Amino acid sequence: MYKIAIIEEFHKTGLELFEKHKKFSYEIISDISEQNLINKLPEFDGCTLRVSKLTKNILEKCKKLKVISRHGVGYDNVDLDFIKKKKISLLITANQNEAAVAEHAMYMMLSLAKGIVSHDIAVRKGLFKKGIKDIQTFELDKKEMLIVGFGRIGKSMIQKCISFNMNVKVFDPFVDKKIIEKKGAKKLENLLEGLKNADFVSLHVPLTNKTKNLINLNNLKKMKKTAIIINTSRGGVVNELDLNKALNENIIFGAGIDVFEQEPVNKKNPLIKNNRVLLSPHSATFTNECKIRMAKQTVKNIIDFFENKLNKSVIIKP
Ligand SMILES: NC(=O)c1ccc[n+]([C@@H]2O[C@H](COP(=O)([O-])OP(=O)(O)OC[C@H]3O[C@@H](n4cnc5c(N)ncnc54)[C@H](O)[C@@H]3O)[C@@H](O)[C@H]2O)c1
Repeated sequence: MYKIAIIEEFHKTGLELFEKHKKFSYEIISDISEQNLINKLPEFDGCTLRVSKLTKNILEKCKKLKVISRHGVGYDNVDLDFIKKKKISLLITANQNEAAVAEHAMYMMLSLAKGIVSHDIAVRKGLFKKGIKDIQTFELDKKEMLIVGFGRIGKSMIQKCISFNMNVKVFDPFVDKKIIEKKGAKKLENLLEGLKNADFVSLHVPLTNKTKNLINLNNLKKMKKTAIIINTSRGGVVNELDLNKALNENIIFGAGIDVFEQEPVNKKNPLIKNNRVLLSPHSATFTNECKIRMAKQTVKNIIDFFENKLNKSVIIKP
């Protein structure tokens, strides 16, 4: 019998998959404090993981742990060097959430460009025409779109931007020019060149040492005053204080932010008081459909791991 820790609950359709497999038992762990994970996790053979951090302090106590199955595709909350040394496998729910995240990025772009929130407030306040005269709105048609990071989500994003008749540029040093051109976009060799010309920017990179603060005051200053930037990737890819300053000083027009350096977002984070920012609580994948797909894939990955049937696309570390 393999014991699996479910670190933070997810949609029940995933957990139901265990019922057909007698080899597995599971326990939901809701208290995600480091101390509780240090106490509880050592008894388990595998675990699922949402947003809580699996630090070295926790992992070094887990002598039985063979596999971590992320409910999601980012894995910056796991100590990679440590699991590599200890031969713990890391799996993700690849190919389950790109449509949801790309739709969320499009929704943020459209909401900001069309002034949806301000218009809604104006109507509710009875300021039907008067209240909207100072609200600037923009079209997406024929505009320069920059997609940063051309993996699963970046690729899903491109189809949507092209259908809005945007001119799409891609910055991703690790993707071949021909792949990008085949999808109908132009590959850029230089991020700054892309930022200078973009009307809209959408970020789809993992959080790494190289992408931390990828968007900062230096490059924000080079952007158009009317530019809108969307971050559904990870907090920390955009420097939050720099972004706040750029918005307050009219350096760029607006931003859509789904992810934060500290989550849940700190009440003192200036972005939550900035009305040029459209916010969401790391909820890009919270569609009814995506929650079910991710829950099932998270559990399937655990079962497939112990049955030696894993699909390569879900393996980050074998
Ligand atoms: N908001 C959410 O709920 C949510 C949901 C899913 C994923 N995400 C985030 O989105 C990220 C992307 O997801 P994905 O499934 O498309 O991942 P992916 O691994 O398929 O694609 C990431 C792409 O980023 C590129 N890249 C890496 N470093 C780069 C750099 N310095 N500059 C430009 N490009 C770079 C890679 O070459 C790759 O093509 C994830 O790592 C995760 O952090 C957020």
